Parts: sequence; structure tokens; C-alpha cells
Amino acid sequence: MSRIASLSAQEILDSRGNPTVRVHLALDDGTRVSASVPSGASTGENEAVELRDGDAARYGGKGVLKAVANVNEIIAPRLIGLEPHRQAEIDGLMLALDGTPNKARLGANAILGVSMAAARAAAQAARLPLYAYLGGPGATRLPVPMMNILNGGKHADNSVDFQEFMAMPIGAPSFAEALRYGSETFHALKKILAKKGYATSVGDEGGFAPNIKSNEEACELIVEAIRAAGFRPGQDVAIALDPAASSFYEDGAYNLAKSGQGKKAGEDMVALYGRWLDAYPIVSIEDGFDENDWAGFAKQNAAQGQRIQIVGDDIFVTNTTFIRRGIAENTANAVLIKLNQIGTVTETIQAIELCREAGWNYVISHRSGETEDTFMADFTVAMGGGQIKTGSACRSERIAKYNRLLEIEADLGRAAVFRSPFAG
Ligand code: PGA
Ligand code: ZN
Repeated sequence: MSRIASLSAQEILDSRGNPTVRVHLALDDGTRVSASVPSGASTGENEAVELRDGDAARYGGKGVLKAVANVNEIIAPRLIGLEPHRQAEIDGLMLALDGTPNKARLGANAILGVSMAAARAAAQAARLPLYAYLGGPGATRLPVPMMNILNGGKHADNSVDFQEFMAMPIGAPSFAEALRYGSETFHALKKILAKKGYATSVGDEGGFAPNIKSNEEACELIVEAIRAAGFRPGQDVAIALDPAASSFYEDGAYNLAKSGQGKKAGEDMVALYGRWLDAYPIVSIEDGFDENDWAGFAKQNAAQGQRIQIVGDDIFVTNTTFIRRGIAENTANAVLIKLNQIGTVTETIQAIELCREAGWNYVISHRSGETEDTFMADFTVAMGGGQIKTGSACRSERIAKYNRLLEIEADLGRAAVFRSPFAG
């Protein structure tokens, strides 16, 4: 069995030009791997701590040299000599070294980089693709992508309150075709926006952020784009929303200020989403309510959970404590899974296992700040949930994940399965 021979970290930049952690790990058999950690912008308040230096003289305080030093000086000495496939033990050792409930001492960015690098090294030492190492012979299911093609909320300077409008190619016969459906819809949308005189520059996740007039217009434009690309709205390509409602929740009300619709109570939001479900081909709504509004989520799930997927992101933060509460209270019927919200591969798998036990869906997700690392593409196939959220149809840090999924589908060949959770 190969063992960890060296482990170190360095500060690199993410897709927004902000510092993040890259970990390098070598085994005594000559295997060398690296892993890079993503970074969110609209982070949930209960996420594991992303350790930043706070030194205003470097990167506006966003440097990660402390997290890097924690890998080099505290984590590495404890892990050298261990076998990399002992993932749960490695992750458990780091949790013990950290000693806090939210990874505040070592930083979830330091810990996750090591955790991902260990998995990748173990896969390589076993001469297996990462998806096969993590998921075994049953890992054959490719995901339907949720492609964030139109932006509002805090991600755009326009009159749209909701953060993300995503195209979901639910009727495609394969991942490769799903990617084509999504990409063609994205390009059709670009043409429509240009024709209407709207801006076609893209945001952090590759979606457009035109200065449109309302939340409804966003859905209408996407439906128009789906048709213009030659697809059937709701059958070939559907819509998924991430309002990211924590970002417009103020003093107990949902303030739809950007669109000028004013303040809404939780019940009004349930009714508003209900009208949207009647008007547009929506199959999934994520964070339709504030991260502390468990009652609002539960009301929506009771009213609409049979019709659509209700996903919790900021409310669950990939943490089994919150997911367990959600299952007990019927808060939602799906979880957005982000490795860096919880900070180890082992705990992320535990969150997914909880979803499976409850019969909930789960969607593996990128962060708005990403790198060229494609770990999450392999991880998605390994976990078999059938859904991935990793941005629009442009920007290389997003496309890298899609391209990796194309490779995996080709690698699986006839064994590859593409089964949308929403296809009729
Ligand atoms: P983040 O947001 O990666 O900027 O936190 C994405 C999301 O809300 O899903
Ligand atoms: Zn979200």
C-alpha cells in the first residue's frame, strides 16, 4: 500500500482573482496530485469557516497564507505516512486537529484541499478514475446540469430580485446531448438579448445579467430562448430557480425591492411561486426562503413539494445537523451539496447518505468562485444523484466540469446512464 510521502499547500487565485488554497500531495510510489478549493460569495451563515488572513496589505485581506501554513505546519506532519485511501480516518484526524465545531482554527479551505487531494491520490494509486474510486462499479449515472444562464439579485445590477435562472435540459437522451441543449439555449438567449438591446456580458458563473425589467421577464426570455433553440419548454429544457432569498429578506419580510414589488410575507412568497409554477416550466426552486425561515420553507414544501423539487442551500449548508432537522420538519425535499460548506469529503458523503435515507434528491454544486479543478464532476457521478449545478455554458472554470463529465460519459461507454429526475 502506498503512503503519503509529502503534503504541502500554496496560495493560488480563483476565477474571480481572489486567493484560494491548492494542495499538493505525493505518495511514496511516485503518485503526485493536487486539489484546489472553491469559494462562495452568497455564503450561508452556518458554513464551515473559510480562513482568510485579514491582512489588508495583501489582496484586500483575502489572502490565505494562514490556511496554507496550517496545511504545511499542522496537518502535513500528522498525515505523512498514512495510506491515502483511509479517507474517513484522514478527515477525522483533521477534525480532531482543528478541534472547533466549524473548522475555524485550521480553516475549511485548508482541510478540504487536503481531503480532496487524499481522495485523488488514492484513486490514482489504485489506477482508477476518481469517479470509479469514489463511487465503485455502480457509479454510472451522469447528471442533468442546472445551467445558470440569467442572473439577478446580488449578482447583477438590474431589476431582478432572484439570483439565478437556470436552464435544465431534462429531456435529453445523454449528458452530451443535455450539454448541447443547454449550450444552444444559452446562445439563443444571447441573440434574443442582443436583439432587444440588452447587455450580453456575463457574470461570475457565466450567466447573462441584462438590465431587464422584472423577475417575470427573466422566465419569459428563457422560455423564448428554449423555443428559439428548437426545444420544447418543460419537456426538453425546463427552468430551475435559485432566488437566494436570504439576500432580500429584511426584518421578517421578503423585500422585492429591485423589481419594485415591495415587501412580501412568507405566505405571499408561497403564492407568488405558485403563480410562477402555473405560468412557467419550473421544476426546481432552491432557497425560495431565508436561511433561518424554516417555517417558510416548510409551507412551500407542503404546498408545492409534490409538484417540484424544493432545494435547501444556505439553510442546510451540507451539514447533517441541519439536514436532519429538515427531514424531521419536512422543510424541503432536496439539498444543495457543496463540499466547501462542510469542509471534508467524508462529511459531504454523510450529508448525501442522509438525503438518500430520507428519499430526498441532492444536487452537487460549484461555488461562484471556482478553479480549473474538476473534482466535483467525478464526485457527482460517484454519488449518483443525477443532478449537478456548475454554471452557464461559458467560462473555462465552469466548462472544465462539463468537459470532464463528457469524458466520463465516453469512458463509461455503454454503461453510462442518463436518467433525469424530472423526465416524464
Ligand atoms: P455562492 O452562491 O457560491 O456565491 O455562495 C451560489 C448559490 O447560492 O447557490
Ligand atoms: Zn444557492
